[in-house]
Amino acid sequence: MDTPPPPAPHSTATPALHAQGLRKRYGTRVAVDDVSLQVAPGELLALLGPNGAGKSSTIAMLCGLTPADGGQVRVGGIDLAQDSAACKHRIGLVTQDLALFEDLTTHENLAVFGALYGLKGAALKTRAAQVLQAVGLADRGRDKPATFSGGMKRRLHIACALLHSPSVLLLDEPTAGVDPQSRNAIFDTLLQLKAAGMALVYTTHYMEEAERLADRIVIIDGGRVAAQGTLAELVRQLPATHRLDVLIDSGPALDEAAALQAQHRCLQGLVQQAQAGVRSATLHEGRWQLQLDDLTTGSAAVLQAVAGAGWRVRSLASGRASLEDVFLQLTGRQLRD
Ligand SMILES: Nc1ncnc2c1ncn2[C@@H]1O[C@H](COP(=O)(O)OP(=O)(O)OP(=O)(O)O)[C@@H](O)[C@H]1O
Ligand SMILES: [Mg+2]
Repeated sequence: MDTPPPPAPHSTATPALHAQGLRKRYGTRVAVDDVSLQVAPGELLALLGPNGAGKSSTIAMLCGLTPADGGQVRVGGIDLAQDSAACKHRIGLVTQDLALFEDLTTHENLAVFGALYGLKGAALKTRAAQVLQAVGLADRGRDKPATFSGGMKRRLHIACALLHSPSVLLLDEPTAGVDPQSRNAIFDTLLQLKAAGMALVYTTHYMEEAERLADRIVIIDGGRVAAQGTLAELVRQLPATHRLDVLIDSGPALDEAAALQAQHRCLQGLVQQAQAGVRSATLHEGRWQLQLDDLTTGSAAVLQAVAGAGWRVRSLASGRASLEDVFLQLTGRQLRD
């Protein structure tokens, strides 16, 4: 008999976490509207969206903290509605708001969280040492979070969520108010957890975090999934591969409204010039934002149009299309409007 092939890395028949058609309403306000997602072991899924998009509400339903008005959550194949205790044991939650006892020591904080999962004695001591090591706080066990920086508190918060060895970790904006050094330390910890096979869901409204950390990204806006895929898949949905941002000085001759109108006309002309390869052009807060097939021909056409109108370029920035362009394309807004 042939030996079956070994499984592909990180692949599994049963996702670590699977949510289908989640819905949540607060009074008449729909917070989450038909959100489905799944995460495999060893995968980090970013849930990216602006304030009020429904990220925290989704996280709360994924871990059974808030009942869903509709839909289903399965953790390691187990239905959350059928066996919430088994599911909650498999999930670690890092809430958006810090949940620490400021006047208890780090070890005492861990003991409180451990007690929630029946961890005590030698088993608690061993796990506490492991999780503090994982978040880079191994030497701060006797100190109180009241004496920690914002970033260190966040790291202790993550340690508390890891104590019961969950297979899925939900992190709701874990870098809010964190200095760059602690942010990098948090990223290192998450990448190690991922490499060890944990499934992670990470909510953020920072595009660069999603680009840097995520295997797959779910863009959520107004409670709905606007798009999902790998960064490369999302960027491929854009009409063009490059972006050009231009700030122009249209001189003192025109008043502001007339100047903006003239710039709009110029942008429309550029999009209509087929050979320039300008796929889209918008004016956002006085800046031109263009999507181009090719930077060389596209930017030449843009500069020619600016010079032709008798204007001057104040600044110019270019690059490959990014998640920011994807969000703009999908919603017509910047993520941080
Ligand atoms: N407990 C609640 N009662 C009433 N409305 C709520 C409640 N929690 C959230 N909402 C509303 O649901 C919507 C989604 O909120 P949610 O907190 O899930 O968004 P979010 O994406 O996490 O935002 P943020 O980035 O600001 O944390 C918002 O309109 C919010 O006002
Ligand atoms: Mg939130």
